[in-house]
Formats: sequence, C-alpha cells, structure tokens
Amino acid sequence: MQELNDRKINKVCCIGAGYVGGPTMVVFAEKCPDINFHVVDINKDKIKAWNSENLAKLPIYEPGLDKLVKKCRGRNLFFSTDLEINIATADMVFISVNTPTKTKGIGAGKASNLMYVEACARQVAKYAKNHTIVVEKSTLPVRTAEVIKTILEEAQDGFNENSVKPTFDVLSNPEFLAEGSAINDLSKPDRVLIGGSNKVAIKMLSSIYKKWVPESKILHTNLWSSELAKLTANAFLAQRISSINSIAALCESTGADIKEVSRAIGTDNRIGSKFLESGPGFGGSCFKKDILNLVYLSSHFGLPEVADFWEGVVKMNSWHQHRISRLIVQKLFGTISGKKIAILGFAFKANTNDTRESAAIQICRDLLEEGANLIIHDPIVEKTQIEIDLDKNDLSTNNKENKIISKYEGSWDFSRNIGSVFLDAHAVIILTEWDIYSSIDWISSSKIMKKPGWVFDSRLVVDAEAVKNANLKLWRIGDGT
Ligand code: NAD
Ligand code: UGA
Repeated sequence: MQELNDRKINKVCCIGAGYVGGPTMVVFAEKCPDINFHVVDINKDKIKAWNSENLAKLPIYEPGLDKLVKKCRGRNLFFSTDLEINIATADMVFISVNTPTKTKGIGAGKASNLMYVEACARQVAKYAKNHTIVVEKSTLPVRTAEVIKTILEEAQDGFNENSVKPTFDVLSNPEFLAEGSAINDLSKPDRVLIGGSNKVAIKMLSSIYKKWVPESKILHTNLWSSELAKLTANAFLAQRISSINSIAALCESTGADIKEVSRAIGTDNRIGSKFLESGPGFGGSCFKKDILNLVYLSSHFGLPEVADFWEGVVKMNSWHQHRISRLIVQKLFGTISGKKIAILGFAFKANTNDTRESAAIQICRDLLEEGANLIIHDPIVEKTQIEIDLDKNDLSTNNKENKIISKYEGSWDFSRNIGSVFLDAHAVIILTEWDIYSSIDWISSSKIMKKPGWVFDSRLVVDAEAVKNANLKLWRIGDGT
C-alpha cells in the first residue's frame, strides 16, 4: 500500500453530476486551482449540457453557477462520461449519486434505494488503482459506509498474487447545501462534516476544505454519527416547517396571523427565526425521502415510537397540501369544474428549476381532479418537466386510437409570459415565492379576470392592500385576521 502521509490530492473524481455533484465540484475547482476535478455521470445528455458552450443550457439553474463554470471548466474542472479512466487516476472519489426512496420490495415507500450507490462502489472497486479515498457525498442510511467498504474490499476482479491490489479508505462527508443558494452555501458553509476513522484520509479531505473554510468549522466525527447527522439535520428542518404550517391552520381558525406568531417565537434565541415561514408545504428531493428513511431505520432498530414521531412530520405536510386544495374549491363556491385557474410557480422553491416533490405537483393534481383548467406559469421550469410531474403514474389508454395519453391532457397549459395568465381566470394561486410575483399589477390583472376573482397566496408574497384595492378577494396562508 502506498504511504499516505506525504501524499497530496492531485485529482478528484466525482460520480454523479446532479444538483449536488455538479455545483460542489464547481466550487471546489474554483477554490483549489491546484487540483483537477473530474465530474462523471452515466447520463450523456446531462454531461453534454454541463459542457455546453451556452451557459444558459447548464442542466441546473443556480444563481452564480454559470460564472464559476466559465472560469474553471477546461482549466481544472472537467465533465465526462468516462468513469473508468477518471476513477483509475483519482486520489479521491466522491459518490454523489441519487438515493431515492424504494418503490418496491422490503422497506418500499420508506427505505433508501441504494442500487446507485452500490453500483458506484462496484465501479470504484473495478477501476481503482493504488490507494483511493472514497467519500460518501450522497445522503445515506446509517452504516452504509460498511456496505461500501465490504464491496470495495471484496468485489475486485482480476487481481492475483503478483498484481498490486488497490486499497481504500471510506469517509462520510454529507452535503448541507440548499438549492437556490448552493454557491453561497458551498462557499460559506456553517460547517463541514467529515466522518471516518483513518486520520490521514481525514486530513487529506480536510486539506481541500481548509483552503476556504475556517478550521473551527470542519467537524470530525465517527462514520455513523456523520451519516446520521445528515438525516437528522434534514428531519429537524422539515419538522420546523410542518410545525409552523400546523400553526398556520390554527391561525386561520382563530384570528391570529402566522407572520406575527413566527416573529414572536423566532425572536427567542433558543428557537431562532429561520425556517419559520409558512408555505404550501415543504418540497424538494430530500426532506420527505430522508425523513422516511429515518422512519424506516427507527422501525428496523425496534423503535416504533421514534418512527411514528418522525412520520408525523411527513403526514402533516401532505395534509397541509390537500388542505390548501380543499379550501380553494370551497371558496370558489364548492366547484371548480371548467373554471380557469392561474398557477404561479411550479418549482419547489424560488431560484431553482427543480420541481422534485414540489407542493405545486400535489395541489395542481388535486385541482385537475376537481375538473379545473389550469394555466401554469414559472420563470425557469420547462413545460416538459411539468408534463412529466403531472403525468407520473397517470397515463391512460382510454382513447379511440388506443394511444397512450396523459390523464390530464387538455386540462392544463403553460405560459412563460405572466401577463397572459390572468385572462378569464377565476383565481390566481401563488405556489412559489419567485420575486416577480410580488410586483404584479393587480389592477390591470383584475380587469381581465372573472368576478368574483380570487388570489390565493400560499407564500405571503403579495401586497394585500394592492390586491384588495383591485377588487379581488384574497386568501393568505395563516392569515386569520
Ligand atoms: P441528482 O439526481 O440530481 O444527481 C444524481 C446523478 O447521479 C444523476 O445525474 C445520475 O445520472 C447519476 N448517477 C447515478 N448512478 C450513477 C452511476 N452508477 N455512475 C455515474 N453516475 C450515476 O441527485 P442530487 O440532487 O444531486 O442528490 C445526490 C445525493 O445528494 C442524494 O443522496 C441527495 O439526498 C443528496 N443531497 C441532495 C441535495 C440537493 O439539494 N439536491 C442536498 C444535499 C444532499
Ligand atoms: C434542504 C436543506 O435546507 C439543506 O440543508 C439540505 O442539504 C438539502 O435539503 C438536502 O439534503 O437536499 P433544499 O431542499 O434545497 O435544502 O431547500 P430548503 O431551503 O431547505 O427548502 C425546502 C422546502 O421547504 C422548500 O419547499 C421551501 O419552500 C420550504 N420552506 C423552507 C418553507 O416552506 N418554509 C421555510 O421557512 C423554509
């Protein structure tokens, strides 16, 4: 085995060019010009988009990302589909692939599907030469590092007594970036967490971060604490949102105002003011998946009460989304059949093109089920993505030509032009807090809407007075006043 103590990291390979792998390696490359970063993915289209000359075509929309890609790509940052050569020549390999919830088999609906992580471990075992530090960047169930280690050590083909067998260290280094603020989060992290036992490997990974993160912010733990801390952080953040949304419902019934309640509790230092904004329910690829994973692990380790406690956070989120759909129907005289409704925002939050688990998906589906005609606007999300999200599991063949069609085909349309969505709309529903929605000209919008016209603001972004002055009715989340 090669001596690690005096080795420097020259080349890093990151498997997975998604929302985490891409921006993370872009920032690493900017901060460490002396190291080469190679981001690899099996998805050819994604790699092509990362290599696109036109920076507007990068596969991920993230403020500030394009400038950094322009600066580093081709210098010390490379995107490719060639896993073999890039793994073989790397000193360190990050695993940053997706870890979705299992849809079938043992633990379906809760446990993480680790097939992509296992595939990565097998690829590293197959192609690595010499000593390789393998870093878990994906969010993983506790003790996954054990699985990765076993695969790395036992799944190597083609080595006999005369050839040099590669060796490995496994570290956990979960990512805490939030989409929409990824570049800032990566550049100024609250903390960097590194779990592991081999001091030299930990030192080598720390040496990358130390180039821009103060040492006091680089926390070292054992592997299992690091893996569990990531799931716990997401569970705590999501729990705050379910908590505030549950209180929003109570505000609406009692005459209280959720903004005032949030401010009142958030000024208590022990509670803190962040993550207390009531909205349409949390979305994003991770909160639900990671809590369900925690639920599964708790049950697996014989702790049903712990499992029930955390499952409540997800149940509250789902109830909250349906609650919003129901109250929209009630306010529009109990029927929305054939009524045109404008949906403002489809991304799960502002400043991202990601729609995974967006509250908009559930709420739009609920309204379509009630027979509404939707006109959906989002400044960044593509129509094709909305099509996929609304159609998921709902394709039908019940038409004359026996052609596969979407259940909701013809019931919704998309517009990139916000000015065009108000015509003949009975209601406008704000689901994402994009800046442009706070400066809508409600007087001119109201003139072309049906009357009574409604504005449903689930993000508390509109100027209430302006809406009321435009002769429109207004519902705001958590506003019981
Ligand atoms: P993603 O779906 O955007 O990207 C994952 C990429 O991995 C895909 O492009 C896929 O093609 C690729 N991939 C899968 N298997 C592969 C293989 N064997 N070889 C090469 N490429 C492969 O996922 P993401 O949002 O980047 O999330 C990745 C992990 O990071 C997840 O575990 C997630 O929980 C965690 N995480 C995500 C965020 C976030 O904001 N999205 C934040 C922190 C942590
Ligand atoms: C979240 C965490 O914030 C990150 O630390 C973590 O790394 C990431 O998950 C992950 O593991 O994937 P993200 O999902 O990108 O990041 O975005 P958040 O800002 O956390 O928002 C999640 C959802 O909660 C959004 O739908 C957002 O609108 C909602 N939210 C957030 C609220 O409704 N109210 C709030 O006060 C804050």
